[in-house]
Amino acid sequence: MATYLDDVSRTFGEYLLVPGLTTKQCVPGNVSLKTPLVKFKRGETPAIALNIPFVSAIMQSVSDAGLAIALARNGGLSFIFGSQPVETQAEMVRKVKKFKAGFVTSDSNLKPDNTLADVVALTRVTGHTTIGITHDGSPNGKLLGLVTSRDYRAERDPGDRPVKEFMTPFSKLTVGEIGLSLTEANQVIWDHKLNTLPIIDKEQNLVYFVFRKDYDSHKNNPDELLNTTDKTLLAGAGINTRDYERRVPALVDAGVDVLCVDSSDGFSEWQSDAIRWIKQEYNGRVLVGGGNIVDPEGFRHLVAAGADFVKVGIGGGSICITREQKGIGRGQATAIIDVATARDAYYKETGVYVPVCSDGGLVHDYHMVLALAMGADFLMMGRYFARFDESPTKKLKIGNNYVKEYWGEGSNRAQNWQRYDMGGSESLKFEEGVDSYVPYAGKMKDNLEVTLGKIKATMCSCGAITIEELQKNAKITLVSSTSIVEGGAHDVILKE
Ligand code: IMP
Repeated sequence: MATYLDDVSRTFGEYLLVPGLTTKQCVPGNVSLKTPLVKFKRGETPAIALNIPFVSAIMQSVSDAGLAIALARNGGLSFIFGSQPVETQAEMVRKVKKFKAGFVTSDSNLKPDNTLADVVALTRVTGHTTIGITHDGSPNGKLLGLVTSRDYRAERDPGDRPVKEFMTPFSKLTVGEIGLSLTEANQVIWDHKLNTLPIIDKEQNLVYFVFRKDYDSHKNNPDELLNTTDKTLLAGAGINTRDYERRVPALVDAGVDVLCVDSSDGFSEWQSDAIRWIKQEYNGRVLVGGGNIVDPEGFRHLVAAGADFVKVGIGGGSICITREQKGIGRGQATAIIDVATARDAYYKETGVYVPVCSDGGLVHDYHMVLALAMGADFLMMGRYFARFDESPTKKLKIGNNYVKEYWGEGSNRAQNWQRYDMGGSESLKFEEGVDSYVPYAGKMKDNLEVTLGKIKATMCSCGAITIEELQKNAKITLVSSTSIVEGGAHDVILKE
């Protein structure tokens, strides 16, 4: 006879937090959202801890190099999508690792023979008015001059005027050499009253620009997630159980900090084989999480293989139709509570703490606090990040609203059969995800400020200033459907 689980599969919207004593210490300014990403022994510190408890989903429509840089600069981490060729994924990782705050690779470049009309057209496309003039018009060609909006009058000067006639030539430019620190570069900018400092190599090739306007950028990102030794931004990457023997070495070579085996159902021998192979091949030096699972058996299976964290969630994602298609899954709240309980038992038994990630289905900001209170150490989100400027997809206007595209890794569009296959066939027989739009929400930083502000306020109400305290002390109650109605605005006539 089949086993019937006693508990009902429940999700976050069915729970509320009951406030605890808010001491005078419990103010948002005192709240730390620092949280472990990978396993650690009792009394030790994890090799990687996040400064905010967010990671971005391993999806084409979410986690490319651009989003990874933005999220790491805000204290979280991206797992760059694995449903692409090994080479392009490794290149994205490399891009994140090469990112140097304040040092920008020029996106606007022309040759001396280009014309004023080319300058005007380029500034319209990029929105940037500083143009590097290089011998071949490439971002890293030999630097021959610089054009800014102060060098021409678009309305009065002839469009066919060659750039070489009005650019500031190299001989008159103040430049810095590669190796200059940001502080030193800023000092040169200050001393010479510049807006832009080109950084060149020994052969006079343009490498970066440093802009005066970015002067405060480091101060604006106090939570930046950096590798403590080389100060690079941290980058994660998703891998599959098919080509890991080829993919992992390329990602490691590109400097990846942590991997995650990405599968819609991670309770499998393919997954434990992949994790074991990575641990053996690199003598335990490469960090790798596993998932997704939804119960203690799945958790133990991945931990026994050597997983550094375990990702929880089947069927709860906003673009996910796995439950409808295959009838597998579990309410996300119930899954988190059950797996976190198994994690705590494992910690008691062995002294090893394995962080748990809640993946998918977080809709409201308060769901995030609930997931953390229920025992998740960090949260993976797709829809949340897909809405921002920094996500890789197109922004479109539909009717009167701006939207961004967002599609599931199990949709036909993503062609990611590796995440969904069950070993045998190599093609997707049916879809497990949809292709959709999400409302455009603007800059990541602005949205994070609001979301994290709410999380901190809720934690203060619960009398907790760390995630660990929240997990220990939170009081959580189930709500009836009638009290859910009570929770919204009701019995009033809302103004527009
Ligand atoms: P969201 O934050 O609710 O949008 O959920 C994102 C999560 O959904 C991802 O991290 C994956 O675990 C999961 N996911 C991504 N694509 C698909 C799909 O096509 N089908 C089912 N689940 C998916």
